[in-house]
Amino acid sequence: MDRVDGKTAFITGGARGIGLGIARAFARAGAKLALADIDQASLATAKSELSDLTPVETFLLDVRDRSAYARVADETESRLGSVSILCNNAGVAGDQHVTRLTYEYWDWVIGINLTGVINGVQTFLPRMLKRGGGGHIVNTASGAGLAATSSGLLYTTSKFAVVGLSESLRLALEPFKIGVSVLCPGPVNTKIISNSNDTRPSSSVTVEETKMWEAAITQANAFLAAGADPNEVGEMVLAAVKTDRLYIHTDRIMAGLIEARAKALLDAMPPAK
Ligand SMILES: NC(=O)c1ccc[n+]([C@@H]2O[C@H](COP(=O)([O-])OP(=O)(O)OC[C@H]3O[C@@H](n4cnc5c(N)ncnc54)[C@H](O)[C@@H]3O)[C@@H](O)[C@H]2O)c1
Repeated sequence: MDRVDGKTAFITGGARGIGLGIARAFARAGAKLALADIDQASLATAKSELSDLTPVETFLLDVRDRSAYARVADETESRLGSVSILCNNAGVAGDQHVTRLTYEYWDWVIGINLTGVINGVQTFLPRMLKRGGGGHIVNTASGAGLAATSSGLLYTTSKFAVVGLSESLRLALEPFKIGVSVLCPGPVNTKIISNSNDTRPSSSVTVEETKMWEAAITQANAFLAAGADPNEVGEMVLAAVKTDRLYIHTDRIMAGLIEARAKALLDAMPPAK
């Protein structure tokens, strides 16, 4: 039986960037779509584009809001049928210099990038299990979740956790025939840096920090602009769901760092007895 055609996919952060790329790939493969995002205008644009291909419902949802999440899940399932593909993709790429960290910053990044994923799992997994299993969960982490990089402390912390959650969830869900994949992209050509800037905590930001942030945005945007096309990433996610693969890489940019990390971990172990 086809794992995507005729199924309902729920995609967070589905209005723009990688989430929209995933939505396009799934729509072409015959899935019905529920797109959740905090950007209403982009949701409307995505809906008008994709409705030609497949039934699409859009929801203004902050993935941190658990009760709203449950309501949106009910609405999705009553309009489109049971969700059997869940893509926990919404995320922000914001950070703060280590000398200026505040709880507000931790809560912002961890709340969306990690707790947002947990909320997706906790909303839909019991429904999948109640129906007797089957389905697939895709969590968007990052290459930064596989080895520490200069991507920043908050981002790296959140994405390592998403990788661990996904690996463990895959083992736990094996008996229930629910697949789990973790998307670990390298640079992808999206506006994540400026989009994230729109929602970052502003209360503790100085003029100097704003200037630094603007410079970082310009630099990071240029780096991402040379990255993968989000539509191609969507096709990679589709292929991984169809074949039930755990890891989804978009390039080999992290290969050296992953190798060095694995070696450092092994070298730190006591000698074999
Ligand atoms: N672009 C890259 O280079 C890259 C690399 C590695 C990982 N990622 C990850 O891919 C995912 C998608 O990022 P993208 O590059 O497509 O960025 P994007 O900004 O284009 O898309 C992210 C979407 O998530 C939405 N969003 C943000 N906060 C939300 C919230 N609280 N609730 C619901 N929706 C929310 C945004 O409105 C946006 O539409 C993120 O998890 C990101 O960390 C991106």
